[in-house]
Amino acid sequence: MSVEVCASCLSNGDVCVLPTETVYGLAGSAISSNAIKKIYKIKGRPPNNPLIVHVLDHESAFDFCHTNNVSKILADAFWPGPLTFILPKKDIISNSVTAGLDTVAVRSPAHPLFRKVLEKVEFPIAAPSANLSTQISPTSKRDVLDAMGKNCPYILDGGTCNFGIESTVIDLTDSPVKILRHGPISASEIESKTGIKVNFPDSQEKSPTNEPQLNSPGQMSKHYAPTTPLRLFKSFDDLSNFHLNKKNDLIILPSNKTNLPVSLQKVQIFYLSKTGEFRDIAQNLFRVLREADKIRKNFINTHLLPEEEKYSAINDKLIRASSINI
Ligand code: TXA
Ligand code: MG
Repeated sequence: MSVEVCASCLSNGDVCVLPTETVYGLAGSAISSNAIKKIYKIKGRPPNNPLIVHVLDHESAFDFCHTNNVSKILADAFWPGPLTFILPKKDIISNSVTAGLDTVAVRSPAHPLFRKVLEKVEFPIAAPSANLSTQISPTSKRDVLDAMGKNCPYILDGGTCNFGIESTVIDLTDSPVKILRHGPISASEIESKTGIKVNFPDSQEKSPTNEPQLNSPGQMSKHYAPTTPLRLFKSFDDLSNFHLNKKNDLIILPSNKTNLPVSLQKVQIFYLSKTGEFRDIAQNLFRVLREADKIRKNFINTHLLPEEEKYSAINDKLIRASSINI
């Protein structure tokens, strides 16, 4: 499918799947009520979980939300890129996009194909991740097809996503600004590049229910979940000391440089990276979770990364993907 076909499909109030540098997005015109309805329906997304709107640049955001000095500084530093702003919305954006909130999520994607589509249409593009609600986000065309099955809308193939996890979401409606979703850009990176002070939630505990949180509606405790139950250990040592077996278990480890104790040597292992670096682990995380899920063992076993800010996004996703914490 080409950029032109996607642009005309979106202009007709239809939806298609577009690549971004984070994950693939299920895209529709943010000002078409038909398109918005289709997005919620296809994803099976609860109506109280608002959508992200994509624009070419900070100026294009003026038309539908109230930008400010802080958004300008952050856009200069990080756009186009994986940083989403929460800002007060203007009337042109309907309540169905924002799930009734008076704020809207907006970002400028860096993927050249998404940008070409944005250049061809005259409206902002709503595009939540192109997975079914609560499941693992897709980072390639194949993942999208796996996730959506027969009813998959047209996909614009942009290769494998660079970052592999969704954008950092930052609430700019209050001071200090606050991270609502950990992602590729960390609070310390924002602070060091712009001098803007950033608050972020330090508790990564799951909420007791799977209800969306009030100030951060998409941060449901269950998310990114493989079908196979995921056992999440606090550390590599805890995982190594647990009795795992070849028949029922498989393991996901952050780096293939890990020295394996005898207890793990017979169990099938998937590695997230060759380096143990955040960037590499993030890029492979969702793909590896999907591949591990396809093996259909009784349990996928993995462990949290050290409690350092740079790993927050990965640990946050592992916690939400897990069903058993050990
Ligand atoms: O990287 C990304 O952000 C990808 C690509 C496709 O751009 N998109 C994405 O969209 O992850 P989605 O819908 O899966 O996640 C958007 C997050 C959700 O957690 C949603 O609840 C939150 O942003 N959000 C949207 N509008 C909001 C608002 N007004 N206030 C607070 N959170 C909001
Ligand atoms: Mg999502």
